[in-house]
Amino acid sequence: MQGRESKGSPSPTGTLVYTDSMSEPASKTFYLETFGCQMNAHDSEKVVGTLLQQGYRQVPTVEEAGLVLYNTCSIRDKAEQKVFNLLADYKKQFGVLGCVAQQEGEKIFERAPYVSLVCGSASYRKLPQMLVQLEAGGQRVTGLDDRLTDECFETEFTARTNPHRGYITIIEGCDKFCAYCVVPFTRGKERSRTSASVLEEARQLADLGYTEIQLLGQNVNSYRDPDGKKSFAELLAAIASVAGIRRVRFTTSHPRDFGRDIVDVIDAVPALCDHVHLPVQSGSTRVLDAMQRLYTRDQYLERVSWIQGARRDISLTSDLIVGFPGETEAEFEETLSLMDVVGYDSVFTFKYSPRPNTPALRLQDAIPDAEKARRLAVLNDRQKQIGARRNLRHVGQVLEVMIEGKNPARGQWIGRTSQIKVMNFTVPDGVELATGSYVAVRVTGSFPNSLVGEMADPRLGQSDRSGEHGGCGQKPEPQGAQRNTEEHRGRQASLAG
Ligand code: 5AD
Ligand code: SF4
Repeated sequence: MQGRESKGSPSPTGTLVYTDSMSEPASKTFYLETFGCQMNAHDSEKVVGTLLQQGYRQVPTVEEAGLVLYNTCSIRDKAEQKVFNLLADYKKQFGVLGCVAQQEGEKIFERAPYVSLVCGSASYRKLPQMLVQLEAGGQRVTGLDDRLTDECFETEFTARTNPHRGYITIIEGCDKFCAYCVVPFTRGKERSRTSASVLEEARQLADLGYTEIQLLGQNVNSYRDPDGKKSFAELLAAIASVAGIRRVRFTTSHPRDFGRDIVDVIDAVPALCDHVHLPVQSGSTRVLDAMQRLYTRDQYLERVSWIQGARRDISLTSDLIVGFPGETEAEFEETLSLMDVVGYDSVFTFKYSPRPNTPALRLQDAIPDAEKARRLAVLNDRQKQIGARRNLRHVGQVLEVMIEGKNPARGQWIGRTSQIKVMNFTVPDGVELATGSYVAVRVTGSFPNSLVGEMADPRLGQSDRSGEHGGCGQKPEPQGAQRNTEEHRGRQASLAG
């Protein structure tokens, strides 16, 4: 091991596309801040694109904005509280979008008097009309009545913030109704986009210079093509075959709908990344049943055995909840033992948080917060050990890394492997790299949450890779290893409309 660990920066959730139209009146300026998951971040990219299309200008601070928008998250209580604190802070025209909007509805107008727009994610396609109502002096404009919609929010105006990884929503909503989860109430019922429209968006991204695509959905593998043309696994293969696309990721997968065909397609198609995020939530079948997760511990482990039996070295990550009502110490220990058996590469861990409308609210035996905190700490400590062990196996390998940035203070570049691991690495003196390009990196050390390495001799990159596990990047580099970032950014800007 060498140096201190640094995990790289989290993927951006703020949307930062500022246009330059000085002729617009101040009232047509907006500030948007995003909370929560990658779905929300990508929704915000589409919302920003829609507003720009309607003649609005995005500004970087609340103070400069005529309209302040918060795209909110209500998955846990803390995230929701944060938004209400913000709404109390400024005397501005506010719009509340996303999950808190859908969950709280018109009650928000009473609680936060400066709010004039409340819009859930299932109503975003009506945003242009809602903006017109706002401009006409509307005080309580709502988009809340679309929980049962069959439509997805598809727009050609997407102001993408990550210049290298393009996000595509393939399925919205959720029909699973896990006992703890607010999402089915805030994002509406499950609905998939046609494979033709998803593929068209993938081709557009490739034309714009994107080489990595991440498919998004609450349950991405519950995807059902409305035209009946492609299964989820077939859609993955089709996207991976789009010229110029070098890496394809997808998140989140639900264990119940996780078929062997997904592992087979990862094995067969090099551009599909070696990573599956498969949230388990608990290692106890009794708790899983109470959570209404629709699978047992053994059924989950069967899926894990498919993934671990693949020819490729597929990294496995998960979400875990501690302190679900009635979770005994022995049941909590079953989660710890499941972590040991699976050997996750990394996990996201949460204390159970009671949410409005959810079935779990009716369950007895709440776990005290201090006990939840203790279990969380034990879990995180266990994962630290497991992650350290998992990462150690990479030392000595040469892995392909997509460059995300540079840390000049450390003299290191930062990127991600196909397995989505953070790699901090050095390059020979005088070598300048471009973000978004791919390099071969020899791993020289490991930490629980990241790897460190040094750029392998670029001339050795290809042949070195053939000796390791079948990572991404076996397609020829479309634009040369050190791509012209300025050119890429220029084309990117035109996407913002
Ligand atoms: N309390 C705690 N964690 C939750 N999650 C979802 N709802 C709750 C809740 N009420 C976690 C789950 C899910 C992740 C996105 O958030 O682990 O997979
Ligand atoms: Fe929530 Fe469960 Fe649906 Fe995931 S599958 S979004 S945890 S209800």
